[in-house]
Amino acid sequence: MDIIRVEGGHAIEGRVCVSGAKNSALKLMAATLLAPGTTTLQNVPNISDVHVMGKVLKRMGAVIEVVDEHTLTIDTSGVDSWEAPYELVAKMRASTAVMGPLLGRFGCAKIAMPGGCNLGARKIDMHILGLEALGVEFDTDHGYIHAKAPHGLTGTSVTLEFASVGATENLIMAAVKAKGATVIDNAAREPEIVDLANMLNEMGAKIFGAGTPVVTIEGVEELKPVTHRAVGDRIEAGTFIVAAALAAGPAGVEVVGFNPIHLGMVIKKFEAMGIRVERIENGVRVFKCERFEPVDIQTLPFPGFPTDMQAQMMTLSALADGNSIITENIFENRFMFASELVRMGADIRVEGHHAMVHGVSGFSGAQVTSPDLRGGAALAVAGLVAEGYTEVSAIYHIDRGYERFVEKLSSLGAVVERVAVADPTDD
Ligand code: EPU
Repeated sequence: MDIIRVEGGHAIEGRVCVSGAKNSALKLMAATLLAPGTTTLQNVPNISDVHVMGKVLKRMGAVIEVVDEHTLTIDTSGVDSWEAPYELVAKMRASTAVMGPLLGRFGCAKIAMPGGCNLGARKIDMHILGLEALGVEFDTDHGYIHAKAPHGLTGTSVTLEFASVGATENLIMAAVKAKGATVIDNAAREPEIVDLANMLNEMGAKIFGAGTPVVTIEGVEELKPVTHRAVGDRIEAGTFIVAAALAAGPAGVEVVGFNPIHLGMVIKKFEAMGIRVERIENGVRVFKCERFEPVDIQTLPFPGFPTDMQAQMMTLSALADGNSIITENIFENRFMFASELVRMGADIRVEGHHAMVHGVSGFSGAQVTSPDLRGGAALAVAGLVAEGYTEVSAIYHIDRGYERFVEKLSSLGAVVERVAVADPTDD
């Protein structure tokens, strides 16, 4: 069992380069199923979620080669199975992203039904309703979803009840091979969706309007493999910006490898808190903020404030000079982080999907547990300015989405290490 141990009170300085976006790379990997042959993906983060998606594709018969740490070739010509098994879907819900491409290429898919997760129930009803409109018939038994398009896929109009990232992606990946045109209304607009659509268009798809609420997809006969570079990870970047705002030395910290436009609303909120964020080539330079202004935020689909930055923002507001209100609108169970931060001295009261954060003068290092991926990273970052040592456990959550997190923080001068410890509850 590994933990991350952080010694608070050390300034960080220098430059950190973020990896490719997890939430882009996973879907790009799934999309390779649509183009028989070998697709090369660059800027793929070396994280455990990517390893799981690799396993899902291999089980189907894809051949994956690791060219270098961030480049994969995926040959999907020999894919002869259409099943995403329970043990992999249970590990990573994003495995369900193979449903759209499998339906697009083969007209069938068997996907383990994802259960709830630590963020909430996380249903996939919108994926199913949209795919049904395209001509897919669904059946469920023994915990599996069987999807089949007996008459092929036919373009249609789909209005999503909510701008779901996963539903938009699955629908786009199915519709690229449908007969005729599909229009998705109230589509999600996240930069990772634009990245996916760009790759599919490079493969020969005809997708228009990705990044806007109305996406039109004209079905094509075939897609060809390409070489594509994943977009930089805006959420990893945002996490390091928070670290810098808390703990940077006088020269600040440069966070590069991403497009600051993808963090527009987040940077706006940082600036409202008094944080100096300078645009530089391919990223930003951030300076320590001596006094945080309180801020109200509510999480919303892009271009609103991302739920994946909510915990990191709560860390900052917990040290603000006043009261902040944070409203979580995307996931019903994403405030577990708050009680861990309270263990470090924060003053936070959660009521339903609102958190009332009363700023305190500092954190005190404590043993805390990662509630999820982003919450885990935010706890380690809080440890940078906590008095004494912070020990974050359950860091497999962090490994799912942050590549070499400890090494990147250390390279900036943080005193942080990954330590193997015995399970304290063992006799
Ligand atoms: N929802 C439904 N029915 C559906 C689909 C979604 O009720 O058919 C609900 C979900 O339960 C959730 C909300 O709608 O409450 C948002 O879900 P969405 O489909 O937009 O999210 P997702 O595709 O499951 C992706 C990211 C998440 C990120 C969200 C929102 C990946 C692999 N995951 O999830 O990333 O928080 O979009 O931006 O792309 C993370 O990286 O830490 C993470 C959780």
